[in-house]
Amino acid sequence: MITIRNLKKTFGEGDKKMIVLDNFNADFEEGKVTCILGGSGSGKSTVLKHMIGVYQPDSGEIKVDGENIVGMNREQMNKVRKKYGIMFQSGALFNSMTVEENVALPLREHTNLNETTIKIMVKMKLEMVGLRGAEHLKPSQISGGMLKRISLARAISLDPKIVFYDEPSAGLDPISIGVIDQLIKDLSNKMGITSIVVTHELASAFRIADKIIMLFKGEIISSGTPEEIKNSKDPRVVQFINGLPDGPIPFSKSQRDYGEELKEMTFYN
Ligand SMILES: Nc1ncnc2c1ncn2[C@@H]1O[C@H](COP(=O)(O)OP(=O)(O)OP(=O)(O)O)[C@@H](O)[C@H]1O
Ligand SMILES: [Mg+2]
Repeated sequence: MITIRNLKKTFGEGDKKMIVLDNFNADFEEGKVTCILGGSGSGKSTVLKHMIGVYQPDSGEIKVDGENIVGMNREQMNKVRKKYGIMFQSGALFNSMTVEENVALPLREHTNLNETTIKIMVKMKLEMVGLRGAEHLKPSQISGGMLKRISLARAISLDPKIVFYDEPSAGLDPISIGVIDQLIKDLSNKMGITSIVVTHELASAFRIADKIIMLFKGEIISSGTPEEIKNSKDPRVVQFINGLPDGPIPFSKSQRDYGEELKEMTFYN
Protein backbone atom coordinates (compact mmCIF):
# COMPACT_ATOMS: atom_id res chain seq x y z
CA MET A 1 0.00 0.00 0.00
CA ILE A 2 2.87 2.37 0.83
CA THR A 3 6.45 1.94 -0.33
CA ILE A 4 9.28 4.27 0.63
CA ARG A 5 12.43 4.22 -1.50
CA ASN A 6 15.78 5.95 -0.94
CA LEU A 7 14.28 8.66 1.21
CA LYS A 8 16.69 11.35 2.33
CA LYS A 9 15.87 14.16 4.72
CA THR A 10 18.15 16.74 6.26
CA PHE A 11 17.24 19.52 8.64
CA GLY A 12 19.18 22.75 9.10
CA GLU A 13 21.98 24.38 7.15
CA GLY A 14 25.78 24.53 7.30
CA ASP A 15 27.22 23.50 10.69
CA LYS A 16 23.77 22.71 12.03
CA LYS A 17 22.94 20.41 9.14
CA MET A 18 21.63 17.08 10.35
CA ILE A 19 20.84 14.07 8.22
CA VAL A 20 17.81 12.44 9.81
CA LEU A 21 16.96 9.92 7.10
CA ASP A 22 19.46 8.61 4.61
CA ASN A 23 18.59 6.08 1.97
CA PHE A 24 15.54 4.98 3.95
CA ASN A 25 13.42 2.14 2.54
CA ALA A 26 10.26 0.60 3.96
CA ASP A 27 7.11 -1.23 2.90
CA PHE A 28 3.68 -1.05 4.48
CA GLU A 29 1.41 -3.85 3.36
CA GLU A 30 -2.25 -3.49 2.53
CA GLY A 31 -4.66 -4.54 5.28
CA LYS A 32 -1.86 -5.18 7.74
CA VAL A 33 -0.79 -3.52 10.98
CA THR A 34 2.77 -2.21 10.84
CA CYS A 35 4.26 -0.78 14.03
CA ILE A 36 7.19 1.64 13.97
CA LEU A 37 9.25 1.31 17.13
CA GLY A 38 12.38 3.15 18.21
CA GLY A 39 13.86 5.40 20.85
CA SER A 40 13.29 9.09 21.14
CA GLY A 41 14.77 10.98 18.20
CA SER A 42 15.14 7.85 16.06
CA GLY A 43 12.99 9.37 13.31
CA LYS A 44 9.58 7.75 13.80
CA SER A 45 7.56 10.94 13.56
CA THR A 46 9.71 12.17 10.68
CA VAL A 47 8.87 9.05 8.66
CA LEU A 48 5.18 9.43 9.53
CA LYS A 49 5.15 13.12 8.58
CA HIS A 50 6.61 12.29 5.16
CA MET A 51 3.88 9.74 4.53
CA ILE A 52 1.11 12.21 5.36
CA GLY A 53 2.73 14.93 3.27
CA VAL A 54 3.69 17.30 6.11
CA TYR A 55 7.39 17.04 5.18
CA GLN A 56 8.92 16.92 1.72
CA PRO A 57 12.10 14.84 1.45
CA ASP A 58 15.38 16.06 -0.12
CA SER A 59 15.14 13.08 -2.45
CA GLY A 60 13.50 9.70 -2.77
CA GLU A 61 10.07 8.32 -3.46
CA ILE A 62 6.95 7.56 -1.44
CA LYS A 63 4.32 5.59 -3.31
CA VAL A 64 0.81 5.43 -1.88
CA ASP A 65 -1.45 3.01 -3.71
CA GLY A 66 0.94 3.18 -6.68
CA GLU A 67 1.16 7.00 -6.79
CA ASN A 68 4.33 8.90 -5.91
CA ILE A 69 3.35 11.65 -3.44
CA VAL A 70 6.76 13.35 -3.39
CA GLY A 71 6.50 16.78 -5.01
CA MET A 72 2.68 16.73 -5.18
CA ASN A 73 0.94 20.08 -4.90
CA ARG A 74 -1.64 20.79 -2.24
CA GLU A 75 -4.60 19.84 -4.39
CA GLN A 76 -3.09 16.49 -5.42
CA MET A 77 -2.08 15.76 -1.84
CA ASN A 78 -5.57 16.54 -0.57
CA LYS A 79 -6.90 13.84 -2.87
CA VAL A 80 -4.45 11.32 -1.42
CA ARG A 81 -5.35 12.46 2.10
CA LYS A 82 -8.96 11.41 1.52
CA LYS A 83 -7.66 7.85 1.79
CA TYR A 84 -6.10 8.68 5.13
CA GLY A 85 -7.32 8.69 8.69
CA ILE A 86 -4.98 10.16 11.24
CA MET A 87 -5.19 9.67 14.98
CA PHE A 88 -3.02 12.32 16.58
CA GLN A 89 -1.16 11.75 19.81
CA SER A 90 -2.99 14.48 21.70
CA GLY A 91 -6.34 13.42 20.32
CA ALA A 92 -6.72 16.91 18.84
CA LEU A 93 -10.43 17.11 19.61
CA PHE A 94 -12.14 20.48 19.78
CA ASN A 95 -13.19 21.21 23.34
CA SER A 96 -15.97 23.56 22.36
CA MET A 97 -17.67 20.90 20.24
CA THR A 98 -19.65 17.87 21.33
CA VAL A 99 -18.43 14.35 20.59
CA GLU A 100 -20.92 14.16 17.73
CA GLU A 101 -19.70 17.43 16.20
CA ASN A 102 -16.07 16.35 16.51
CA VAL A 103 -16.63 13.04 14.76
CA ALA A 104 -18.82 14.70 12.12
CA LEU A 105 -16.21 17.33 11.29
CA PRO A 106 -14.43 15.50 8.43
CA LEU A 107 -17.82 14.50 6.95
CA ARG A 108 -18.98 18.12 6.98
CA GLU A 109 -15.70 19.35 5.50
CA HIS A 110 -15.15 16.77 2.79
CA THR A 111 -18.58 15.51 1.74
CA ASN A 112 -21.95 16.92 0.73
CA LEU A 113 -23.93 14.44 2.78
CA ASN A 114 -27.12 15.71 4.40
CA GLU A 115 -27.48 16.13 8.17
CA THR A 116 -29.48 12.94 8.72
CA THR A 117 -26.91 10.83 6.87
CA ILE A 118 -24.08 12.47 8.80
CA LYS A 119 -25.82 11.73 12.10
CA ILE A 120 -26.28 8.08 11.14
CA MET A 121 -22.65 7.76 10.05
CA VAL A 122 -21.41 9.33 13.28
CA LYS A 123 -23.54 6.89 15.27
CA MET A 124 -22.06 3.96 13.33
CA LYS A 125 -18.51 5.10 14.02
CA LEU A 126 -19.25 5.65 17.69
CA GLU A 127 -20.79 2.19 17.86
CA MET A 128 -17.60 0.76 16.36
CA VAL A 129 -15.49 2.27 19.13
CA GLY A 130 -18.04 1.28 21.78
CA LEU A 131 -19.18 4.80 22.59
CA ARG A 132 -22.62 5.13 21.05
CA GLY A 133 -24.62 7.30 23.45
CA ALA A 134 -21.77 9.73 24.13
CA GLU A 135 -22.84 12.02 21.26
CA HIS A 136 -23.82 14.99 23.37
CA LEU A 137 -20.90 15.03 25.77
CA LYS A 138 -18.04 17.51 25.51
CA PRO A 139 -14.40 16.29 25.51
CA SER A 140 -13.92 17.73 29.02
CA GLN A 141 -16.65 15.42 30.31
CA ILE A 142 -15.04 12.13 29.28
CA SER A 143 -11.97 10.11 30.31
CA GLY A 144 -8.61 9.97 28.53
CA GLY A 145 -9.25 6.47 27.19
CA MET A 146 -12.63 7.51 25.82
CA LEU A 147 -11.06 10.59 24.20
CA LYS A 148 -8.67 8.35 22.29
CA ARG A 149 -11.56 6.25 21.07
CA ILE A 150 -13.48 9.35 20.00
CA SER A 151 -10.47 10.57 18.05
CA LEU A 152 -10.25 7.13 16.44
CA ALA A 153 -13.94 7.39 15.50
CA ARG A 154 -13.14 10.73 13.87
CA ALA A 155 -10.09 9.30 12.09
CA ILE A 156 -12.26 6.63 10.46
CA SER A 157 -15.26 8.84 9.73
CA LEU A 158 -14.47 9.03 6.00
CA ASP A 159 -13.84 5.26 5.73
CA PRO A 160 -10.11 5.61 5.04
CA LYS A 161 -7.99 2.90 3.45
CA ILE A 162 -5.02 3.79 5.61
CA VAL A 163 -4.98 4.91 9.24
CA PHE A 164 -1.92 6.48 10.86
CA TYR A 165 -1.62 6.39 14.63
CA ASP A 166 0.87 8.51 16.54
CA GLU A 167 1.34 6.98 19.99
CA PRO A 168 -2.30 5.81 20.25
CA SER A 169 -1.92 4.43 23.76
CA ALA A 170 0.34 7.03 25.35
CA GLY A 171 -0.76 7.76 28.91
CA LEU A 172 -3.47 5.11 29.09
CA ASP A 173 -4.04 2.40 31.69
CA PRO A 174 -3.46 -1.24 30.62
CA ILE A 175 -7.14 -1.97 30.05
CA SER A 176 -7.69 1.11 27.91
CA ILE A 177 -4.55 0.19 25.96
CA GLY A 178 -6.04 -3.26 25.39
CA VAL A 179 -9.26 -1.68 24.10
CA ILE A 180 -7.39 0.54 21.62
CA ASP A 181 -5.24 -2.42 20.52
CA GLN A 182 -8.36 -4.47 19.85
CA LEU A 183 -9.89 -1.67 17.81
CA ILE A 184 -6.78 -1.24 15.67
CA LYS A 185 -6.63 -4.98 15.08
CA ASP A 186 -10.36 -5.19 14.23
CA LEU A 187 -10.15 -2.33 11.74
CA SER A 188 -7.43 -4.17 9.92
CA ASN A 189 -8.91 -7.68 10.14
CA LYS A 190 -12.57 -6.91 9.54
CA MET A 191 -12.37 -3.88 7.27
CA GLY A 192 -9.03 -4.38 5.56
CA ILE A 193 -7.68 -1.04 6.76
CA THR A 194 -3.91 -0.59 6.45
CA SER A 195 -2.65 0.57 9.84
CA ILE A 196 0.61 2.34 10.55
CA VAL A 197 1.27 2.74 14.24
CA VAL A 198 4.08 4.73 15.85
CA THR A 199 4.38 3.53 19.41
CA HIS A 200 6.60 3.19 22.46
CA GLU A 201 4.34 0.57 23.93
CA LEU A 202 6.21 -2.68 23.32
CA ALA A 203 3.60 -5.06 24.68
CA SER A 204 1.03 -3.40 22.51
CA ALA A 205 3.20 -3.59 19.37
CA PHE A 206 3.83 -7.28 19.99
CA ARG A 207 0.07 -7.84 20.35
CA ILE A 208 -1.19 -6.02 17.30
CA ALA A 209 1.61 -5.90 14.71
CA ASP A 210 1.77 -8.08 11.64
CA LYS A 211 5.13 -6.43 11.12
CA ILE A 212 7.41 -4.35 13.32
CA ILE A 213 9.95 -1.89 11.99
CA MET A 214 12.57 -0.84 14.50
CA LEU A 215 14.40 2.45 13.95
CA PHE A 216 17.69 3.67 15.30
CA LYS A 217 19.15 6.99 14.13
CA GLY A 218 16.91 7.05 11.08
CA GLU A 219 17.85 3.57 10.01
CA ILE A 220 15.85 0.35 10.13
CA ILE A 221 17.90 -1.92 12.37
CA SER A 222 15.37 -4.71 12.37
CA SER A 223 12.11 -5.56 10.72
CA GLY A 224 9.90 -8.61 10.86
CA THR A 225 7.07 -10.31 12.71
CA PRO A 226 6.81 -9.78 16.49
CA GLU A 227 8.25 -13.29 16.90
CA GLU A 228 11.27 -12.44 14.74
CA ILE A 229 11.89 -9.20 16.66
CA LYS A 230 11.63 -11.01 20.01
CA ASN A 231 14.21 -13.54 18.86
CA SER A 232 16.56 -10.98 17.33
CA LYS A 233 20.17 -11.25 18.43
CA ASP A 234 21.01 -7.70 17.33
CA PRO A 235 22.32 -6.07 20.53
CA ARG A 236 20.49 -2.82 19.73
CA VAL A 237 17.18 -4.64 19.44
CA VAL A 238 17.86 -6.68 22.59
CA GLN A 239 18.65 -3.48 24.48
CA PHE A 240 15.50 -1.76 23.29
CA ILE A 241 13.06 -4.56 23.99
CA ASN A 242 14.54 -5.22 27.41
CA GLY A 243 14.77 -1.53 28.29
CA LEU A 244 18.43 -1.79 29.25
CA PRO A 245 20.07 1.55 30.13
CA ASP A 246 23.51 0.35 28.99
CA GLY A 247 24.29 -1.00 25.56
CA PRO A 248 25.03 0.08 22.02
CA ILE A 249 22.27 2.70 22.07
CA PRO A 250 23.62 5.71 24.01
CA PHE A 251 21.52 7.40 26.67
CA SER A 252 21.33 10.57 24.60
CA LYS A 253 22.78 12.01 21.43
CA SER A 254 26.54 11.53 21.22
CA GLN A 255 28.24 14.47 22.88
CA ARG A 256 31.66 16.02 22.51
CA ASP A 257 34.30 14.87 24.92
CA TYR A 258 33.36 16.14 28.37
CA GLY A 259 36.93 17.10 29.37
CA GLU A 260 37.50 18.99 26.13
CA GLU A 261 34.31 20.90 26.61
CA LEU A 262 35.20 21.83 30.20
CA LYS A 263 38.67 22.98 29.13
CA GLU A 264 37.16 25.34 26.61
CA MET A 265 34.89 26.98 29.13
CA THR A 266 36.04 30.49 30.11
CA PHE A 267 36.25 29.36 33.73
CA TYR A 268 39.37 27.34 32.91
CA ASN A 269 41.02 29.91 30.65
N1 LIG B 1 11.24 20.11 11.91
C1 LIG B 1 12.43 19.71 12.37
N2 LIG B 1 13.49 20.55 12.36
C2 LIG B 1 14.69 20.16 12.79
N3 LIG B 1 14.96 18.93 13.26
C3 LIG B 1 13.95 18.05 13.32
C4 LIG B 1 12.64 18.39 12.87
N4 LIG B 1 11.85 17.29 13.01
C5 LIG B 1 12.62 16.34 13.54
N5 LIG B 1 13.88 16.76 13.71
C6 LIG B 1 15.01 15.98 14.24
O1 LIG B 1 14.99 14.72 13.62
C7 LIG B 1 15.31 13.68 14.55
C8 LIG B 1 14.21 12.65 14.57
O2 LIG B 1 13.06 13.25 15.14
P1 LIG B 1 11.66 12.52 15.27
O3 LIG B 1 10.69 13.52 15.80
O4 LIG B 1 11.33 11.87 13.98
O5 LIG B 1 11.97 11.42 16.37
P2 LIG B 1 10.97 10.36 17.04
O6 LIG B 1 11.54 9.02 16.77
O7 LIG B 1 9.59 10.62 16.62
O8 LIG B 1 11.16 10.67 18.60
P3 LIG B 1 10.06 10.67 19.81
O9 LIG B 1 9.89 9.26 20.22
O10 LIG B 1 10.76 11.45 20.89
O11 LIG B 1 8.82 11.33 19.32
C9 LIG B 1 15.55 14.37 15.90
O12 LIG B 1 16.92 14.51 16.08
C10 LIG B 1 14.85 15.71 15.73
O13 LIG B 1 15.51 16.69 16.49
MG1 LIG C 1 7.85 11.38 17.60
